[in-house]
Amino acid sequence: MTCSKTSIETMAVTTALGGAEEIGAAEVLDGDRVLAAGRVRLLAWDTDFFGFPCARIEALTATGENPARYDAVRRAVADLLGWCDDRGVKFVTVKVAGPEPILVQALESRGFYVTDCTVALARDDHAPLPQSSDSLDEFSFHDRIEDHAGTALAFSGLILDGRFHNDVRISKKTADGLWQRAVLNQTRSEAREVLLMTRGADPVGLTTIKPVDPENRAGCLFFVGLRGSYQARGLGRVLLGETLYRVRGEYDRLEVETSTYNQPALRLYQGQGFKPSQVKLSLHCWR
Ligand SMILES: CC(C)(COP(=O)(O)OP(=O)(O)OC[C@H]1O[C@@H](n2cnc3c(N)ncnc32)[C@H](O)[C@@H]1OP(=O)(O)O)[C@@H](O)C(=O)NCCC(=O)NCCS
Repeated sequence: MTCSKTSIETMAVTTALGGAEEIGAAEVLDGDRVLAAGRVRLLAWDTDFFGFPCARIEALTATGENPARYDAVRRAVADLLGWCDDRGVKFVTVKVAGPEPILVQALESRGFYVTDCTVALARDDHAPLPQSSDSLDEFSFHDRIEDHAGTALAFSGLILDGRFHNDVRISKKTADGLWQRAVLNQTRSEAREVLLMTRGADPVGLTTIKPVDPENRAGCLFFVGLRGSYQARGLGRVLLGETLYRVRGEYDRLEVETSTYNQPALRLYQGQGFKPSQVKLSLHCWR
């Protein structure tokens, strides 16, 4: 007979922005055998932004034949959502790698719906290095940001899709505001490297990189964007090439994630040695 057990622990981890995050863990067991498992994390940053508790389900796994797996994941997700409800969580997100259809169906049956499909790409340090573009007369590069709020404002409206803009329950104003806050956090504290490209006093493009796995010298290219009138003129290649040139030797592996339909970004990354590694579906659930 199958029995379900939920265990909860509190993480003593401080986030990059100083908040603490609590984690709940659910397991669906058949005797000693784990049929499904998952964790849910209260998100300090999102909670602060939205003004109500937000959480993310991570590491959702299941074994067995499809019907049994579906049932086990449904039960694990119910436990995780129950844990969220006990904490007043209003908004829960999850990313499903693969994307694994059984996990997606089980999540959908509990009220989750798809908001984006993304591809993760990675570049190792052995990929050929682009040349420095510093000699381009018209443009300058700056690895320090003087005006954080102004920079965040200049680059916040560039992401028009993605999982927040694609969620019809989130207004465009809120989704834009979320990106503005994210860019601000990046340039102020989260990113280890920032590169601002300007033409005179005009901000043109911005990249930010944050370490994700310092032990394995891995980093994440968090933001890559050019303001509208500078797009599709070959400048993305210049900006990313200069970014990679400047961080050469710093990371063994650089990761980046973008929507599967963002052709300019995909072509840009693949042209600079990034290889697709995983496709993921993003799903949201409001309580
Ligand atoms: C993604 C982005 C940085 C690319 O920079 P860009 O300067 O516009 O792109 P480039 O002109 O350097 O071109 C890069 C590649 O995309 C291709 N491309 C450019 N615009 C395209 C379009 N509208 N459709 C299809 N391909 C396009 C180019 O042909 C080039 O490919 P190639 O090297 O194989 O010829 C830029 O468009 C942008 O800021 N977009 C909005 C923000 C965003 O989506 N950021 C990425 C989120 S992860």
